Amino acid sequence: MFVKRRRGWEIPEREATPESIYLSRRSLMGLAGAGAIATVAAPSPANALIGSLFGSSEGLEQTLDTSADPTFDLYPFKRNDTYTLSRPLTAEADAGSYNNFYEFGSHKEIWQAAQALPTRPWTITLDGMVEEEKTVDIDTLIRAMPLEERLYRHRCVEAWSMTVPWSGFAMKALVDYARPLGSAKYVTMQTFMDPKVASGQNQSWYPWPYVEGLTIEEATNDLAFLVTGVYGKPAAKQYGAPLRLAAPWKYGFKSAKSLVKFTFTDKRPETFWEGIAPNEYGFWANVNPEVPHRRWSQAQERVLGTGETIPTRMFNGYGEYVAGLYASMSGEKLYM
Ligand code: MTE
Repeated sequence: MFVKRRRGWEIPEREATPESIYLSRRSLMGLAGAGAIATVAAPSPANALIGSLFGSSEGLEQTLDTSADPTFDLYPFKRNDTYTLSRPLTAEADAGSYNNFYEFGSHKEIWQAAQALPTRPWTITLDGMVEEEKTVDIDTLIRAMPLEERLYRHRCVEAWSMTVPWSGFAMKALVDYARPLGSAKYVTMQTFMDPKVASGQNQSWYPWPYVEGLTIEEATNDLAFLVTGVYGKPAAKQYGAPLRLAAPWKYGFKSAKSLVKFTFTDKRPETFWEGIAPNEYGFWANVNPEVPHRRWSQAQERVLGTGETIPTRMFNGYGEYVAGLYASMSGEKLYM
């Protein structure tokens, strides 16, 4: 008889919060945690001043209504039951109103400012070490990809976390579509650049545009996911519409938003935060509770919405999928 072995973090799907509940809950992170972040001064994703924690959420629901999106008819995507959770989903109003998106401000309440980003027309360029460089319209790309929904944990380097139902497609499908040369070792991801709509991009001390990177092995790992939607519909702009990464075994800053370009290369790219503070943010950024950030222990995390504190897991609980990628990499700073 086939018996499914349940991993440590798994719960049956019926125990994950249904949409009707996550849509109606509204709660904020604990003030204690917010204070910890607000005391930091240097520029980094970890020093973001919390916007007005009790600021108005008027208009938030409209930003989360993405029914005008040209791909709305495709949602909800069929859930891939391989990826399950050990705690309830974060309420949509919480995940959609507490964001890191430095292009629109170095605080958490960017959901209004992000609405200035025009997400159509939008193209994705695949270039560098590929058989043939191409630029594809986002809607054509989405309709060509194997679409699915996955319940993932997200762990920010700032020691907060959430659990969300991302919609999208395996990054491996994009890599296959791009047809990289055998000599390509990395894929660099680049966010849009438009200081006219993204006021943060006028701050010249940041090395815009936001760039992130993965090895080809990481990008083609089952877990690497390109996100087009969340909560069963196209993603709102504050999440990084129309296309962002979700690499849940890594700190959240690896999951670059509003992507426009994937470049295949044999040189390891310098990433956005690495360029700003190389002693604090590295290329690998794998979650490890035993390796503290310069300013924080990473042993625990605060759950967005409930404020509960829970232990952080190695690779954010995804070691079964990804630990093997790093088994022979001694000498690399894999956890910062
Ligand atoms: N991508 C871009 N382009 N700009 C950013 O500032 N912030 C990162 C990541 N992707 C960021 C980004 C960080 S630090 C985190 S924790 C996540 O986005 C936050 O994703 P969320 O706002 O959906 O929670």
